[in-house]
Amino acid sequence: MPAFTSTSPGKIILFGEHAVVYGQPAIAVPVTQVRARVTVLPQPRAPRGQVSIHAPDVGLQTTLDALPADHPLAAAIRGVMTELSVEHIPACMVRISSSIPVASGLGSGAAVSVALIRALAAYLGRPLADERVSALAFEVEKIHHGTPSGIDNTVVTYRQPVFFIKGRPLETFSIRQPFTLLIADTGVASPTKETVADVRAAWQAEPARYERLFAAAGSIARAARQAIEAGQPQRLGPLMNENHALLQEMGVSSHHLDALVRAAREAGALGAKLSGGGRGGNMIALVQAETKDRVARVLSEAGAVRVIETEVRNQE
Ligand code: PMV
Repeated sequence: MPAFTSTSPGKIILFGEHAVVYGQPAIAVPVTQVRARVTVLPQPRAPRGQVSIHAPDVGLQTTLDALPADHPLAAAIRGVMTELSVEHIPACMVRISSSIPVASGLGSGAAVSVALIRALAAYLGRPLADERVSALAFEVEKIHHGTPSGIDNTVVTYRQPVFFIKGRPLETFSIRQPFTLLIADTGVASPTKETVADVRAAWQAEPARYERLFAAAGSIARAARQAIEAGQPQRLGPLMNENHALLQEMGVSSHHLDALVRAAREAGALGAKLSGGGRGGNMIALVQAETKDRVARVLSEAGAVRVIETEVRNQE
């Protein structure tokens, strides 16, 4: 039996985080500069059915049986077994590595799940269709996020820019003119599960106010899609700024994020906003060829621990 490897990109949310959980559209794109990689290697000498798991990046060395059922890796593996009606996996080692920073809005959890689900299904000789991969990864996302919208598993599975509305079929769209984003990490880890739960509590306390904020974010996502399809990415700058202001009102920004957003704008970015769950993690800035180096430098000076440049374009 040969070894099987699968890799998945990271992702970034351009517009509509949090509001997407409440049925509003959001836009997300893959980030191919960072990746999760999972290899499943046969271990013919290991005890029958033993699945060992090595994830050196996070210091994990264990076996499937030793993991609690609600551990995301165990949930992904058992999800594949149930999907394929497999009771015992031929003994193997699952090796996981990832260059995607965790808990920072780059979709590391979804990327590991998707790569693991694909590699394991291939190892079992039964590769899964994208739709099933995404659905299984969504079940794992529920452990990471509590009440996720499904946007992370969708964009990571399909590796394409998506216009995402919870519960609706996948909608990809065309990027008429590529554009460049800088993704700057505050270095503050912030589990999405917590910010999603906080927004839920705030929405329950003040439903009318939060629904107005969510609807406004949804309108911005629609306007952004039009701008992207029209080949006018510069129009995204002001929309990013407006979306950031809404996220501040939702209570998910932080002084670190606001400082980076301000620094990017002052250095010439066309617009900037936090991206993902918020409170920490990443912000994104829309830059042009003539401003990107300056904005990247200023972001580092303002405290970003990492700045990734990514070009947003249609996948070939
Ligand atoms: O970028 P992340 O992984 O932090 O995703 C957060 C996106 C939210 O809208 C806040 C939650 C979700 O499930 O859509």
